[in-house]
Amino acid sequence: MAKFIVTGGLGFIGSHTTVELIDQGYEVVVVDDLSNSTIETLDRIESITGVKPIFEQFDLRDKSKVSELFKKHSDQQGVIHFAASKAVGESVEKPLLYYENNLNSLIYILQELSASENKNFIFSSSCTVYGEAEILPITEDAPVALAESPYGNTKQIGEEIIRDICKTSDEFNAIALRYFNPIGAHASGNLGELPLGIPQNLIPYITQTAIGLREKLLVFGNDYNTIDGTGVRDYIHVVDLAKAHIVALKRLIDNKNKSNYEIFNLGTGKGNSVLEVIQAFEKVSNVKLNYEITDRRSGDIESAYADTKKANEELGWKAEMSLEDALLHSWQWELNLRQNN
Ligand code: UD1
Repeated sequence: MAKFIVTGGLGFIGSHTTVELIDQGYEVVVVDDLSNSTIETLDRIESITGVKPIFEQFDLRDKSKVSELFKKHSDQQGVIHFAASKAVGESVEKPLLYYENNLNSLIYILQELSASENKNFIFSSSCTVYGEAEILPITEDAPVALAESPYGNTKQIGEEIIRDICKTSDEFNAIALRYFNPIGAHASGNLGELPLGIPQNLIPYITQTAIGLREKLLVFGNDYNTIDGTGVRDYIHVVDLAKAHIVALKRLIDNKNKSNYEIFNLGTGKGNSVLEVIQAFEKVSNVKLNYEITDRRSGDIESAYADTKKANEELGWKAEMSLEDALLHSWQWELNLRQNN
């Protein structure tokens, strides 16, 4: 049974990926410092899979602990690196914290991995690297734009660091996955996103408004050049996204990669406006959502959706679930969360 290290394995995408890895028979070592996650997520993973993953709780900025991790799990066959701070607004206020956290942890892991027997690495990147792309859908060849935020910059710099390592060593194999907008929750209703404080992202804001935790959703702008004036994004179900990580990891282990550094967009290929998302949510939940149009949010782009051809053809992966599936699962997760608290 191959063993994989999943950093940030109790976070939103990390926990769903851990579930999929366990379901496919892999052994998982979850590393998480609980800075933006809770220990109950470990039990939730166990209740879904019947297996409690190995858990190592520490901050990846602690170089000696990263070193210990790789000594203890020297039989690891690959690392999926999710652990990172991800609040765009906070990164603008505290840039050094973001650079320190997201880059130091990445560098320490890469140092250890370079000295390990198996050097397979999957990196959580983001479509934010494209900024406001000129051509839609966005292909992997689209130019990387000047980052809008320190958070976005840590993803760009992270990709560059990995690219440089791959250039110097043929033994090092990496894939950067550029996520579009991950949403949804596990179909069991037992695993999902746990935003700290007031949600910044659209879907948790919608579900918290629908359940009465927030008074109303503010729709940021209806004067964009889109189908109804509101922003368009490519919303992808987190379980589809999780599955793509496993396909990517297998590609590296089976030496199917075409070069030792590859990049894939992970999205559905379909763009939906904020108003379309609201409508779809109202349909699946049967709840009328209180919302109001307000000004644009600074730093927002108009439209972004993925060209999924490369992931479809080369990874053999494609998103299976619809926007409605994802919204229903997010809603079931919200209901479950509030009923039990
Ligand atoms: C945001 C981040 C992006 C990050 C991604 C991770 C910003 C500017 N961008 O992307 O860097 O990679 O999350 O998931 O924060 N919206 C509303 N009202 C709300 C919230 C959102 O109308 O209360 C709209 C936005 O204007 C946008 C769409 O909903 O058109 C999606 O927003 P969001 O979920 O925050 O994702 P992004 O802005 O695409």
